[in-house]
Amino acid sequence: MPKLQNIYRVVSNEKLCPRFYRLCFDAPSIVRKVQPGQFVHIRARDGLEPFFRRPFSVCRAQKYVEIFYEVVGPGTGVLSLKKKGDPLDVLGPVGRPFDMPPPGIKQVVMIAGGIGVAPFLILSDVLKKKKKLELVLLYGGRTKGHVFNMKEFRSNGCAAHVATDDGSVGTRGRVDKLFAKINPDPKTTFIYTCGPNPMMAAAQKFARQHGIRGQAACEEVMACALGACLGCSIRTTKGFRTVCYDGPVFDLDEVIFDS
Ligand SMILES: Cc1cc2nc3c(=O)[nH]c(=O)nc-3n(C[C@H](O)[C@H](O)[C@H](O)COP(=O)(O)OP(=O)(O)OC[C@H]3O[C@@H](n4cnc5c(N)ncnc54)[C@H](O)[C@@H]3O)c2cc1C
Ligand code: FES
Repeated sequence: MPKLQNIYRVVSNEKLCPRFYRLCFDAPSIVRKVQPGQFVHIRARDGLEPFFRRPFSVCRAQKYVEIFYEVVGPGTGVLSLKKKGDPLDVLGPVGRPFDMPPPGIKQVVMIAGGIGVAPFLILSDVLKKKKKLELVLLYGGRTKGHVFNMKEFRSNGCAAHVATDDGSVGTRGRVDKLFAKINPDPKTTFIYTCGPNPMMAAAQKFARQHGIRGQAACEEVMACALGACLGCSIRTTKGFRTVCYDGPVFDLDEVIFDS
């Protein structure tokens, strides 16, 4: 059986804005295997602090594996100091990936908030090869300095619409202001969402109102990422499920978003 945990080399770790970084590492075995929606579990450094690995969605997997992350605490702080050539202890890829859109779907709508945009770049890399799909990204961030550059999405053929809380780029307000941009036909539309729970709850409400099917990539604080400790359990209509093993991708209708 191939080894799930390995030491890889950092290729680059670019600071995009004060708290957002994009890190590439050389992991051909992950590039070959990973599917959109899966994540990698990274040990920021040896030693006791931070003790647990940290999970990050794979944002792209072409020549290298890429993650897009925000510095929020000790783990991501240590990660932001990694330099080209540094070793990186990675477990993965892990987790249930996104399903491909079901037959009959013509419009794929990706609804993302903040760092939740990460898994949609690799998803659009895969979906752009399906010629008959119209790809739409509805993306919300705090301010201009907190939104991912839409260039790569647009070059994948996505219609990308942005909203910021302060209106510094795109529409002023939350991402649900952008829902009017799409044609919500339940037979031909499929939604994928990832981001803060209140945003995914809004996406779920919109999907239910229009009878649209979809999937949500959920986040929860993790320890083992192997389904053993149950620390990352969330409530679903099917009972408690672990984000790391049963997810992170769930059917949108089954997740119970605690607000
Ligand atoms: C499947 C999955 C994919 C993820 N993908 C990305 C990604 O692509 N890019 C990215 O920047 N982050 C992602 N995250 C979140 C990322 O793992 C955390 O931000 C990171 O673990 C924080 O570690 P830290 O030591 O820097 O901060 P910590 O001190 O561990 O956390 C700082 C603060 O963030 C909160 N927090 C930590 N993890 C989470 C979480 N999962 N959900 C909600 N709140 C949390 C903590 O409660 C604390 O308040 C993902 C999480 C999961 C579960
Ligand atoms: S992190 Fe241990 S079960 Fe998910």
